[in-house]
Amino acid sequence: MCGIVGYIGSGLAAPILLDGLKKLEYRGYDSSGIALLEDDRLKVYKKVGKLDALRNELAFRNFYATSGVGHTRWATHGRPSDENAHPHVDCQGRFAVAHNGIIENYLTLREWLISKGHKFRSETDTEVLPHLLEEFYEGDLVETVIQMTKKIEGSYAMVILALDEPNRIVAARQDSPLVVGLGNGENFVASDIPALLCHTRNTYILEDGEIADITAGEVIVTDQYGRLVEKNIFEVKWEASQAEKGGYDHFMLKEIHEQPRALRDTLSGRIDPGESEIVLSEIKMTPEEVKNISKIFITACGTAYHAGLVGKNVIEKLVRLPVEIDIASEFRYRDPLVDESSLVIVVSQSGETADTLAALRESRRRGAKVIAVTNVVDSSIAREADYVLYTWAGPEIAVASTKAYTTQLTCMYLIGLYLAQIRGTVPGTERKAIIRELKKLGDKVSVILNNCAAIDSFVDTYKNAPNAFFIGRGLDQTVAMEGALKLKEISYIHAESYAAGELKHGTLALIVEGVPVIALATQQDLFEKMVSNIKEVKARDATVMAVAMAGIEEIEKVVDHVLHIPNTHPLLAPVLTVVPLQILAYRMAVARGCDVDQPRNLAKSVTVE
Ligand code: F6R
Repeated sequence: MCGIVGYIGSGLAAPILLDGLKKLEYRGYDSSGIALLEDDRLKVYKKVGKLDALRNELAFRNFYATSGVGHTRWATHGRPSDENAHPHVDCQGRFAVAHNGIIENYLTLREWLISKGHKFRSETDTEVLPHLLEEFYEGDLVETVIQMTKKIEGSYAMVILALDEPNRIVAARQDSPLVVGLGNGENFVASDIPALLCHTRNTYILEDGEIADITAGEVIVTDQYGRLVEKNIFEVKWEASQAEKGGYDHFMLKEIHEQPRALRDTLSGRIDPGESEIVLSEIKMTPEEVKNISKIFITACGTAYHAGLVGKNVIEKLVRLPVEIDIASEFRYRDPLVDESSLVIVVSQSGETADTLAALRESRRRGAKVIAVTNVVDSSIAREADYVLYTWAGPEIAVASTKAYTTQLTCMYLIGLYLAQIRGTVPGTERKAIIRELKKLGDKVSVILNNCAAIDSFVDTYKNAPNAFFIGRGLDQTVAMEGALKLKEISYIHAESYAAGELKHGTLALIVEGVPVIALATQQDLFEKMVSNIKEVKARDATVMAVAMAGIEEIEKVVDHVLHIPNTHPLLAPVLTVVPLQILAYRMAVARGCDVDQPRNLAKSVTVE
């Protein structure tokens, strides 16, 4: 995944492009570049490393170009280097292209272009694009882009600057996001809204196959056959400050602290005033259709998959239907038994994850109804699903997902309770009790955030540990997976999660003196068994930090440190249990001097398979 930007107007393009790229750095940050039209030439500046490397290099130059394109990269084809950084240009330096996605048939195209005499300078798939433009160009950039898109296979969002047509930039999209920002005498284009917000709130969200012809005065959108498309303006409602750090050292910390608000927003308008019913007007299934569901599938990637794991447990318990869960990159390759009577739930913060989108399409192809749980309004996944449940978490910028996870969990509860309500599988009194607790989760997260000082001494002692283990039973096991992922991805400590009862079948061999073990013990009915497993690791001299509900004093006798979370319904505990684990990962990463918001090798949303 990468971030792309484009600008045309009367302002200075270079700082606008660099600022836009800064907002998109979460999408990739191993190299960056901009292309500008100046002195009747296309000038390209590219640099390996974070965006600051490019900014520093350009700091004392005076640019006066008023149009340009830019890119921040997350390498797929070709290692991070100056040569592989975008924008890429053709042989004569007449077309500059910034691209996000993968051109799947690039090898064939590259060979064909080489046979025609084109000279390639990079190892990327993208470089075929400017050479194709050079090959096909006959005086109209939009026409040429239409012709080119017929030749390429794969996914793309691209922005093109052409020397021969200085008064326009052209953008095209297929399976990778692209948003046009509509200004006054100037226009913008970017992979995501945060890059546009300080300039405009009025946008066109481009759809697959659309091409935008962008000049300073207007934006004309056509489909891949050149037919005019009437676009509706999408007005962005959130504030630019929501995409800023707001006084926190890192976006991740800010987003962890936003969870109480985010959880309330997720629930807002979805519970009746009597607190006894779930109102999901987004899911327009008739009661008959809900009753005819024979099986539920959940599919997602990474943290969203972990939310799905909780969803599987919760929905099975509440709805009494079998729920299967798949990692989205595996889903369609195992020929799942999805049919017209299946309900498929896809979970994706960004709504653009390529594998999750492909799983959604496969499910619909097989006749299933699909509910998307996503954070990004009008994202590809939101648009292609039958029904959308927005998480309303607000923009999540840090690569490590936090508020997206807890709001996705909340949506899992909402869906579970809603289906149970229609199918009559949970008595009204029990449903009411869960709903009441659901509404208190935001306040309870605040309590945890104000009481996690105990984590600091643990972090101090173990910040140099090479390994850590997360264990739990039942729902705690699924949260253990998320805790281990958070620690790995931002602190680079090798962390594994296990079903606590499984340790003795092999992994116990790794538990030796001083190894940190984080034991989750919030599930009352499994508590005694969990204590036995904790004793097993203590007997091998591990140091154990437990997360347990308030009032469970016994745990203190068997572990070294305890983090108490407020009491709640056991099904809802994951929303609270994960919070100290997020803080633990964050503080570990800070103590180890890691780049919290932009961990190495990762990108915020993975729009390639
Ligand atoms: C980890 C993380 C990733 C994402 C995954 C799916 O902290 O953020 O594992 O959860 O890449 O992304 P979305 O939810 O955008 O589909």
